[in-house]
Amino acid sequence: MSARRTVVVTGAAAGIGEAIARRLLADGWHVVALDTDADGLDALARGETALVPLVGDVTETATLAAAVAAAGARLDGWVNNAAIPTHGRFDAESDERIDRTLAVNLRAPLLGCREAVRAFLRQGAPGAIVNVSSIHAHGTLPGWVAYAAAKGGVEALTRGVCVEYGQLGIRCNAVAPGAVLTAATRAMLDAAGDPAAELAGWELLSPMRRVLEPADVAAGVAFLLSPEARHLNGHVLRIDAGMSSTGATLPPLDGLEPPTGAEPEGAR
Ligand code: NAI
Repeated sequence: MSARRTVVVTGAAAGIGEAIARRLLADGWHVVALDTDADGLDALARGETALVPLVGDVTETATLAAAVAAAGARLDGWVNNAAIPTHGRFDAESDERIDRTLAVNLRAPLLGCREAVRAFLRQGAPGAIVNVSSIHAHGTLPGWVAYAAAKGGVEALTRGVCVEYGQLGIRCNAVAPGAVLTAATRAMLDAAGDPAAELAGWELLSPMRRVLEPADVAAGVAFLLSPEARHLNGHVLRIDAGMSSTGATLPPLDGLEPPTGAEPEGAR
């Protein structure tokens, strides 16, 4: 690869990751696009000379190392975007689903940051990392306990890398999107009895009455990677049309009735 800036984007075959990859290509970056979805990567890579598709799972250290190798002589940026939208009643959650959620949504970004930092140190030149968090790290909804816990960890990870390596010029920031229309969220809408009503409900959670497009998040990521953000470090950019600033009206807890037993003495 040439002297152009090179970035690794995980989960780049669809949704927000695809939009990030396309935006960074348009901004002149070389992109190593990592995903488990080979067909999606093929579609993304079609006609793109500045994109290297890499099929692999972000939970595997060897895959992350392969992404650094694919970047060539110099790595300038790393975007930890891949995640799974684990949703469902927490009391019914299996150990396996919790382990997988933490592996993909928290451990993998942690390993991705380590891989990127190692590459920056090896090459003797700093770079920038952007982690994709979520509004759920700030204010969540019923059904998202494990996902929210992972995203909270992603934001702590972001601050940790900033504090440890900021003196070397390495930057680590995050974006925290609100509701964004992607394959993951469309599947949730489709699973609802009335998708249009469900979407209208999501829009009501934002003071701007708006659900975002993947390109809205990609713009924030591109900014955080750019020299214009050179003094932003450990920052979490909330891209949510104001959603995290509201006191949302919570939906009823599906299938659970309030306890009928008396509260302990002095509980109120
Ligand atoms: P998506 O499900 O549409 O796309 C995720 C991509 O990551 C897919 O291409 C998938 O194949 C890939 N992926 C999943 N597990 C992987 C693994 N183990 N290894 C490699 N690739 C893997 O998801 P979406 O909606 O685009 O989300 C992207 C990021 O944005 C995630 O971090 C998500 O938590 C975050 N986010 C999304 C919001 C939304 O409303 N869509 C809101 C807030 C945050």
